[in-house]
Amino acid sequence: MKILVVGGAGYIGAHVVKALLNAGISVRVYDDLSTGQKINLFPQIEFVENTILNEKALEEALTDVDGVIHLAAKKAVGESMTLPEIYATNNITGTLNLLNAMAKKNVKNIVFSSSAAVYGTPQYTKVDEAHPVNPINFYGFTKLEIERFLEWYDRLKDIKFIALRYFNAVGYDETGTVQGLEKNPQNLLPIIMETIVGIREKMLIFGTDYDTPDGTCIRDYIHVSDLATAHVSALNYLLKEHKSQVLNLGTETGHSVLEMVKRTEALIKPFPHENAPRRPGDPAQLTAVAHKAHTLLGWTPTHSALDNIILSTWALYQKHFPQNR
Ligand code: UFG
Repeated sequence: MKILVVGGAGYIGAHVVKALLNAGISVRVYDDLSTGQKINLFPQIEFVENTILNEKALEEALTDVDGVIHLAAKKAVGESMTLPEIYATNNITGTLNLLNAMAKKNVKNIVFSSSAAVYGTPQYTKVDEAHPVNPINFYGFTKLEIERFLEWYDRLKDIKFIALRYFNAVGYDETGTVQGLEKNPQNLLPIIMETIVGIREKMLIFGTDYDTPDGTCIRDYIHVSDLATAHVSALNYLLKEHKSQVLNLGTETGHSVLEMVKRTEALIKPFPHENAPRRPGDPAQLTAVAHKAHTLLGWTPTHSALDNIILSTWALYQKHFPQNR
């Protein structure tokens, strides 16, 4: 079996490729290396360096593949509100090119990286797939639009899909096989790490007056190796059941920002942080109900314990910044 992994040189993509190779599946990676990195390309894979805006190149890359895993997207929530054109083109047009190329080449299975950002502000605490979708940022809107295109391409072109709605992706491969550190990270844990290694002067805690036990926001942090195995299971499900699905991927457990800060300080070392005003658009609490992924895929997170998330991230930062050992 051969799978085309679009965006396979990126942070989540590289972990997915590793999981596919571990499962004995052949991989062709398609990536424009805009955020993906050469260091994330495993020697066993075929690599096509090109953009998803090039439909002809996508068609060629789809030759002799059994399915597609699509992770190529712009994903900075803040940037999507100031530069929506880039998100419309890369995420929406790029995915349409991919779907059109799949239709042309008769490739019928796709696993798509969606996001909990499609839900917008949660109307109840633990979000299941039946929760209304109402994105509050343009990034989330692009993911939702793509899910809708996928539904139509299923009906009209018989392309079956699994949209995986990730909650907060964190951590790095514990075996050290994935070596690329995400460039320009925008998320909590990498920002904490950058503060510890001295790239940042201090870390800001955005909002301490939320309606949560310690006043800071609660999120569902899911280890990227757990996300990766879910892609392999999703692919197997598609090939066996030929049925489209939308699935949450989360741990069903929340951790507050303050908890993340305190536990990191206890495990690694104290670092400068300051309380700051709320960041616009942040819901107080966002955690998953992930029964559907458990039931349909037999998927359970095994890497997502808080200490493992923090220490696996720290291990790679130490490799890249050895003076901080
Ligand atoms: N936070 C801080 N200080 C920082 C960075 C983040 O206090 O310097 C807080 C945020 O306010 C938030 C929490 O840490 O409360 C997590 O923030 P992230 O930016 O790491 O993640 P988000 O929950 O905002 O969003 C992430 C992804 C989205 C995805 C979403 C789904 O970035 O793409 O998870 O749950 F849609």
